[in-house]
Amino acid sequence: MHVPDAVRARRAQRSFDPAAPVPRAVLHDLVDLASRAPSAGASQGWDFLALSRSRDVARYWEVTTEAGRAPDRWLRGLRTAPALVVAWSREEAYRERYALADKASGDHAPVDLAARWPVPYWHVDTGMAVALLLLGAEDAGLGACPFGVPTARVDAVRAAFGVPPDRTPVMAVALGTPAPHPDGPPPDGPRPSRRRPLEDVAHDGRFGTPLR
Ligand SMILES: Cc1cc2nc3c(=O)[nH]c(=O)nc-3n(C[C@H](O)[C@H](O)[C@H](O)COP(=O)(O)O)c2cc1C
Repeated sequence: MHVPDAVRARRAQRSFDPAAPVPRAVLHDLVDLASRAPSAGASQGWDFLALSRSRDVARYWEVTTEAGRAPDRWLRGLRTAPALVVAWSREEAYRERYALADKASGDHAPVDLAARWPVPYWHVDTGMAVALLLLGAEDAGLGACPFGVPTARVDAVRAAFGVPPDRTPVMAVALGTPAPHPDGPPPDGPRPSRRRPLEDVAHDGRFGTPLR
């Protein structure tokens, strides 16, 4: 599949065939693609927790959802995913990398690392890595949905899967063979595409002048 085709075809897929596992080799390839993303200073402050054994996937949902509470439609759909990948960032990787001689300024004097990055590149880079994983999933014929790890459940996820405390979950990705939602089509119809028009987002030479 050509990259532009994968980019245009990809949509968030929120229900899967639970009986069609994601082969471990495919999962491995997807994480390999993710790990080839660009990163500031080649810091690569990312980790990918791949969950494809049913007990691990079940454990993820157990620790991120409220016990005894009936799952909503979203959860009933996402829980059909046979595999999850949780992408974690590590700020310290950037602090370590940018303290090295080739990155530290001039005479290697201590730099104000906090002022070094206009935005937290560890999260940015991990997000770019996930984008590659999503394109790889599209190419592999899989559906995928990125989703957030609830803030209040982050420690529980770390504890369940042995994730060190210096890792921050940027997002998780549900993966699997696309299938209709177990409850049937959404009662209010499919979600409309809310893609912002290109004239709004692309500026030609000056902000506000649309790139045509
Ligand atoms: C960081 C991030 C977090 C997201 N969180 C959720 C989520 O919690 N639940 C969900 O259903 N979709 C989530 N999404 C998917 C977006 O809703 C989806 O990408 C967006 O609506 C655009 O649709 P498309 O991916 O089909 O183009 C998330 C996407 C990203 C990048």
